Amino acid sequence: MLFGRVKPLDAILATAEKKGLHRSLGAFQLTMLGIGAVIGTGIFVLTSEAAQKAGPGMLLSFVVAGFICAVAALCYSELASMVPVSGSAYTYTYAVTGEILAWMVGWALILEYAVGASAVSVGWSNHAVGLLNGIGLHVPAAISNADALMAHMYVAFGADQTPDIAQAMATGGWINVPAIIVVAIVTWLLIIGTTESARVNSILVLIKIAALTAFVALTIPVLKAENFNPFMPTGFGNPFSSSGLGVLGAAASIFFAYVGFDAVSTAAEETKNPQRNVPIGLIGSLAICTVFYILVASGAIGAIGAQPVRSLAGAVLSPGTPEIAGRCAAIVASAGAAAEPLVCSKEALVHVLDVINWPLIGRLVGLAAVLALPSVVLMMMFGQTRIFFTMARDGLLPAKLASVHPRFRTPHVVTLLTGMAAAVAAAILPVGKLADYSNAGTLFAFFMVAISVMVLRRTDPGRTRPFRTPAVFVVAPLAIIGCVVLYLSLPLTAKLVLPIWGAIGLVIYFGYSRSRSHVGRGMMDVVDDPALQPEVAKPLH
Ligand code: ALA
Repeated sequence: MLFGRVKPLDAILATAEKKGLHRSLGAFQLTMLGIGAVIGTGIFVLTSEAAQKAGPGMLLSFVVAGFICAVAALCYSELASMVPVSGSAYTYTYAVTGEILAWMVGWALILEYAVGASAVSVGWSNHAVGLLNGIGLHVPAAISNADALMAHMYVAFGADQTPDIAQAMATGGWINVPAIIVVAIVTWLLIIGTTESARVNSILVLIKIAALTAFVALTIPVLKAENFNPFMPTGFGNPFSSSGLGVLGAAASIFFAYVGFDAVSTAAEETKNPQRNVPIGLIGSLAICTVFYILVASGAIGAIGAQPVRSLAGAVLSPGTPEIAGRCAAIVASAGAAAEPLVCSKEALVHVLDVINWPLIGRLVGLAAVLALPSVVLMMMFGQTRIFFTMARDGLLPAKLASVHPRFRTPHVVTLLTGMAAAVAAAILPVGKLADYSNAGTLFAFFMVAISVMVLRRTDPGRTRPFRTPAVFVVAPLAIIGCVVLYLSLPLTAKLVLPIWGAIGLVIYFGYSRSRSHVGRGMMDVVDDPALQPEVAKPLH
């Protein structure tokens, strides 16, 4: 039977028991862990993309995306408190909806984590380049973005060579070297066995919170009401259109800014009293980030305005395309850097502070991003290795792929492969597109978690639920509808990524994994092979 292979919850819990991780994290550390994984490229960079899609209406986009993450987090919390083991959405779906859907979730999580790491790396690159330019070390465009490469690809695939595209070809770059460098450094750190300590995470969280607080404190006093007008220049949005514009389109992109809170659930095995602390960590970190994001977005819009840039013909351009890259370059060439609209900026928050005459604080905010974003890349790549491990432990991926380095005791092969894939994507794709692709995978995982929580209420009502999703039959359907609406509001290419990626996943599942699955072969219990128990089991303190 196709959907018949379910991994019993008790076997999953027994595996976790045997692993015997040291339970050291409390509610505060978990909340810090969540904030550490959440605040990143989304707010520092993608605020411009959201403004291009929705104008000042992006404020509503932050609310919509935050709300959908909140209902998803409530569903996550029930499962994470019941099944406090690592592996996250993949593990829950294995227990509830069976192997094939779990495989699809694990496969989609590669998009969330590996492609997400690429997106954050590009955001880091934007800030590193800005900072270096600020101190007189000019990094040529040719090696700091891939706008010209993309413009040539567009034309090669049949797009008309408009003046904006020609501009992108002339002034854009070919490869994003700083993004490759940060992925390489993080990959190396993971290979030599670096896991971020709770102390380092807390310091980086404080740096990020300080940067966002300074931004809010300097922008809110100079807020002009007229900058909110027109409020929704591209409308509310329509999930059935392929443009990806409007409030819903911006919500689908800015959703990336909230991704990462699920890192808390992957630390459940290392948490004291996970039943109480995991829900607090998940919901607490999300709530704090939501408040900051709404304040930051209000400050950015109110201080300098956030109207979308249009083509010479008057159409709102899609972010991440060579047309907008060229149009923005043309605006800067003719009117100077200070006239650059918010939507064109590669470092949205730094740019706002420059325009309102706080360039030094702007630079410090840029420095905060440069210091803190690598830790977001690290957490995402680390999350990726954990998912690969759990899948390998279940026999769905080759154990060889998960072999452990003899000296560093880390999964060096899979880390290197993840790093190489993330580096290639970061080198040639724009940040907004990477974030949209990552979102497609994450939305699928959240969707499955919301289904799993309801199914489990029906199939296993008697099991202890230390945290119960309140009004689950309202909250989970809201999460499901929210994920579907956001997914449909993504631009067409991002929408296509999930089915194409999923089809590749199914070929691998039926060609390789299904016949090797431990559950399929009746091996319900723990795999005690030390090669499958590497350093991922290290406590996070
Ligand atoms: N939410 C994380 C970020 O915005 C992934 O960078």
